[in-house]
Amino acid sequence: MLHETNTIRLSDTERGIRAAVAMLRAGQLVAIPTETVYGLAADATNPRAVAAIFEAKGRPRFNPLIVHVHASSEINALAVMDDRATRLADAFWPGPLTLVLPLRDGAPLADLVTAGLDSVAVRVPAHPTAQKLLRAFGGPLAAPSANPSGRISATTADHVMEGLGGRIAGVLDAGPTGVGVESTIVGLTGERPQLLRPGGLPVEAIEACLGDQLAGAGPGITAPGQLGSHYAPDAHLVLNAANGEGLWLAFGPLAGRRGLSLTESRDLVEAAANLFAHLHEIDAMARAEGVERILVDPIPETGLGRAINDRLRRAAAPRRGD
Ligand code: TXA
Ligand code: MG
Repeated sequence: MLHETNTIRLSDTERGIRAAVAMLRAGQLVAIPTETVYGLAADATNPRAVAAIFEAKGRPRFNPLIVHVHASSEINALAVMDDRATRLADAFWPGPLTLVLPLRDGAPLADLVTAGLDSVAVRVPAHPTAQKLLRAFGGPLAAPSANPSGRISATTADHVMEGLGGRIAGVLDAGPTGVGVESTIVGLTGERPQLLRPGGLPVEAIEACLGDQLAGAGPGITAPGQLGSHYAPDAHLVLNAANGEGLWLAFGPLAGRRGLSLTESRDLVEAAANLFAHLHEIDAMARAEGVERILVDPIPETGLGRAINDRLRRAAAPRRGD
């Protein structure tokens, strides 16, 4: 049973952070800013708190969650870092990178965090508010993206409120997130490093650091978030559109078309930062106007374009209810 609660909007101040810590220590859920998207955080060592995440999101399956800590030095208690992990951690943490590593024996994590796997996804976020909160909390926080299951990720506290208001104790409002797409996930549990999800850190940078190519996620998908429709707006999305009837999500100028531009100057970083907010907004426009299709300009498949296209493909995929 989901209990209606009054979701408190906490300010990005010492007082707000202290209140968030108190809620988290009490086993409650608080949406927190990271530099990628807002996360729905719970004490990763508290099984009931972690279970409440799935309940609040309405996730039909127990996908494993990302564990957030304030520094790489905190990872050792949770996971086993090899040379590759250390090299990536030194280069990119804090930042928009998640590593899937072998779970440390006796790691103090609730089982639901790893969904019973013998690996764990860990991340050191760079957002200053997330950093302050994690230090003040003093332990690992499990946090998936702070959106109801199958909906668009939240890049502002307002998005969080729209999707999860009344279902969580609080949201720590630090304004819009900078990167705008989720972290890149790299799997390091096998011989070859694997790209499990493209995201805010370009694959090219990771490959340059490792001096090795990332294997694609392959047919036996290990990041369930990769499956099917996951960021679904109500309207039907048409990718790589050339022409047609509907609202446009432009890459470059709208040039007289109706809709929104992700970036006037074809800047992939700007487009990534705008992606989810624009999807929310254009979906609302489509609903208000009774328009059934959103047409999306082609977007280059390089750098952050890969993550943007990945999100758009999932948003365009037939609903699977995940
Ligand atoms: O930017 C982000 O990564 C955001 C912020 C809040 O940190 N978090 C996020 O979490 O996007 P979520 O739960 O929406 O996506 C996490 C992905 C899922 O696809 C999940 O299946 C995968 O990480 N994952 C987690 N643990 C895993 C594991 N042990 N093995 C493989 N995949 C794992
Ligand atoms: Mg998500």
